[in-house]
Amino acid sequence: RRKIIIDTDPGQDDAAAIMLALGSPEELDVLGITTVAGNVPLSLTARNARILCELCGRTDVKVFAGADAPLSRPLVTAEHVHGKTGLDGPDLDEPTMALQATHAVDYIVETLRSEPAGTITLCTLGPLTNVALALQKAPDIAGRLAEIVMMGGGFFEGGNITPAAEFNIYVDPEAAAMVFRAGVPIVMMPLDVTHKVLTLNTRVEKIRAIGSRPAIALVEMLEFFERFDVEKYGSDGGPLHDPTVIAYLLRPDLFDGRVCNVEIETASELTAGMTVVDWWQVTDRKPNARVMRDVDAHGFFELLTERVARL
Ligand code: BDR
Ligand code: CA
Repeated sequence: RRKIIIDTDPGQDDAAAIMLALGSPEELDVLGITTVAGNVPLSLTARNARILCELCGRTDVKVFAGADAPLSRPLVTAEHVHGKTGLDGPDLDEPTMALQATHAVDYIVETLRSEPAGTITLCTLGPLTNVALALQKAPDIAGRLAEIVMMGGGFFEGGNITPAAEFNIYVDPEAAAMVFRAGVPIVMMPLDVTHKVLTLNTRVEKIRAIGSRPAIALVEMLEFFERFDVEKYGSDGGPLHDPTVIAYLLRPDLFDGRVCNVEIETASELTAGMTVVDWWQVTDRKPNARVMRDVDAHGFFELLTERVARL
């Protein structure tokens, strides 16, 4: 059973990722959920994470609030995609479970130091601010992490918040640059993968058919979330970015990629937050990430549906 910490900015697709993780207790031990400012401000991401734990009947999962702004830039949010609350769509009750008093960064550091080295995987679904702050505060944790599996970046697929940058990396490029240089094993799920897992009607209907409260709430979230892509691009569904991270932990065979060097652009205004992926190994820069490019979308949705049904 793999021990994980989920660092997140929910977000409807973050919600799907959290549900996939909590629906997989045989494989995954969710030690804690840390929240960061991203899709919406920190007060809302910390609220939303607790709403999701309650929705899944898992008030035992500890939720920690972390950074409320990127390392050195003003926060950019994405209400245009996720709505005012970040979880627009279903009617959700305000959470009653408590937020932990410990800061998310301290929780990450303390947990990595107290658990045996190499046993904890950090799953990041939002900007990398908390992770960068933890690495800055306690550089020794780099050698203690099993790996970081992240949703972030894009290469052949380009960006989704600027032509060059994907949202999670764009919000805090300095943090991302620190993480990619920390020497921690990284698995990256870029837009090249996530744009292949679309919330097609037939797939969403299978989740609806489960009929449970978490399943219906998820469907209502996805229906809100996908309208951005459906209206703007005329696509048949929205890209379910963040659950690819959790799916990778459960079924790595669903994904295909290669190990290569990734650098983050921080200087240019035009391309800030761009993930420069040396896919063709045209430099001698050292490989620092396993970059995914392909996914079995059918297998991914089967897995998601099966695990949401267990909640
Ligand atoms: C990423 O940005 C957020 O809007 C999503 O939750 C996902 O983590 C996709 O670019
Ligand atoms: Ca997210």
